[in-house]
Amino acid sequence: MGRVRRLPADLINQIAAGEVVERPASVVKELAENSVDAGATRVTVRLTRSGCGGITIIDDGHGMSREDALTSLERHATSKLLDSDGLFHIMTKGFRGEALPAIASVSRFTLVTSEPGATSGTRLSIEGGGAPVVEDAPAVGGTRIDVDDLFFNVPARRKFLKREATELLHCEDAITRLALAHPEVGFSLEHEGKEIWASPPSGAEPMQRAIAVLGKEAAPHLLTIEERRLGLTVTGFIAAPEFTLSNARGLMTFVNHRYVRDRGLTSAIQRAYQDSLPPGRQPVALVFIELDPRAVDVNVHPQKLEVRFADPRSVQEAVGAAVSVALKAAPWRQGGERGPETPQVQAQYAQAIERFLARAQGAPAFLEPATGLALDQSLSRPSFGTARPTLDTAPSRGYFGALRFLSVLARRFWLTESPAGSLVIVDPRAIDERVIWSALATRFQKGTLASAERSLFSARLELPPTERDRVLGAAPALLEVGVEVEDFGKGSVSLLRVPAELEHVDPSSWLVEAAAAADASARIGVMARRAGLRADVLVTHDQAQARLAALDDVAAQVHAHATRVVVRDLPLLDLEG
Ligand SMILES: Nc1ncnc2c1ncn2[C@@H]1O[C@H](COP(=O)(O)OP(=O)(O)O)[C@@H](O)[C@H]1O
Ligand SMILES: [Mg+2]
Repeated sequence: MGRVRRLPADLINQIAAGEVVERPASVVKELAENSVDAGATRVTVRLTRSGCGGITIIDDGHGMSREDALTSLERHATSKLLDSDGLFHIMTKGFRGEALPAIASVSRFTLVTSEPGATSGTRLSIEGGGAPVVEDAPAVGGTRIDVDDLFFNVPARRKFLKREATELLHCEDAITRLALAHPEVGFSLEHEGKEIWASPPSGAEPMQRAIAVLGKEAAPHLLTIEERRLGLTVTGFIAAPEFTLSNARGLMTFVNHRYVRDRGLTSAIQRAYQDSLPPGRQPVALVFIELDPRAVDVNVHPQKLEVRFADPRSVQEAVGAAVSVALKAAPWRQGGERGPETPQVQAQYAQAIERFLARAQGAPAFLEPATGLALDQSLSRPSFGTARPTLDTAPSRGYFGALRFLSVLARRFWLTESPAGSLVIVDPRAIDERVIWSALATRFQKGTLASAERSLFSARLELPPTERDRVLGAAPALLEVGVEVEDFGKGSVSLLRVPAELEHVDPSSWLVEAAAAADASARIGVMARRAGLRADVLVTHDQAQARLAALDDVAAQVHAHATRVVVRDLPLLDLEG
């Protein structure tokens, strides 16, 4: 007989358990994830001695037939992966088919399960591996798993367990992380018969889940983040810098509803907070990234705690941007924003600004994008001073570059001063819109817009049938302006390519409108307007000056197509008089 032999199945499972089951919290994580994968709406976790004594997980998911339950205890048995192609479309927590046999090989394991509507169920029991004992059981409307005396047959492992308090903390973390990734599922965690954490299903109000995890104290400090890019969405909740922690426990990242640890993502968040945190403090940030599953490999870590992105830089960049934008716009920064950038705003200006703001607050259209008209109407009420608006229908060349940037107004406009001594309020979004319009139009005329490269991510958009037909019907016309769409089936369209200026703009905000537009010029108009709405309003003095100057190069060319740049031009003489 040769020296090389196959290992017995039980030993294989125990070896696997070494990777997958490190501590009670690993069991809690794997089993609760299975419950979520099984479509549970409620998951209850009961622990004794911090999970070292016993772990019970009860769910109301789809359960298993007897045959499936038996198979589920075999190594590499899973219902979640069919072929290697599926490996690049993973949306479930599990897919490796390792957890149940591994856990059963290092504990006293009992599984009771029944399928919906079944009148009876199945009980399978295993002690430290081997074949299960099969019994009939009452129907439980889901699955209940008891894992007692973890590592009873692997004393070396047991020694590595930390103090029970520490193990309990890990179990809590496992549940709260899963709960954050799945606000639609209700969770309850009990220890020694007492509920220590619980949160009802909060799918409609994910912030409630965030507060349930971070604590009520965090609530008043939370800001919502949201960044939509082609094929990539970043959402979540971050705390303003006055609410920090001494460790990084409040900094959590999720990818496609899976908690992951990722140095690059963490650094991107920390960088965004950079100057605003006191030394030695860590930010609180719950960041949820969703992207095409093909753009992220989840199969790089036995506990699936790490992932590999096809394009880590753009993911980090989007996360950084999401956090920075929210921090910049946060109310607590307003005072600071105006500080250093604001030269001595003259007394007359201050008065005019105050009235402008008072007017603006009464006008709901004020913050609405693309409502140039409504905005102007609200501003030209007779009570607003004596100044007459002068509009930039035909600005002279060099007009914008000559404006001197003074300050940001209401986090929406720029306050500038013209050489002629008037106070000119400009709309930075309109500036960006014009510059982008001009760039797109120029490439269109040269014929290079239609031949741009495909981007790495493709976005999928679900649309109502009429809109989908309209978009697909306009495919050739969209291609002319650099937008490539394709029927994805199942009521959605794929977006394979967009001009670079649009890559960071949520396609659902412009695609249908662009498809419906009359001609290429109108389509470019729609895209430019949407892209312009993302203009960075809170800028440094130099950035504002540079953007005003850039506008001079294109102003005359595009004024007919664009939203108005000069919102108000108030001659100082009028203000004095
Ligand atoms: N709570 C549960 N409810 C229903 N089915 C379950 C449950 N837990 C496990 N299963 C079934 O058992 C299979 C094996 O589970 P597991 O060993 O964790 O591997 P994986 O989750 O990677 O598929 C799952 O694919 C699933 O079909
Ligand atoms: Mg699993």
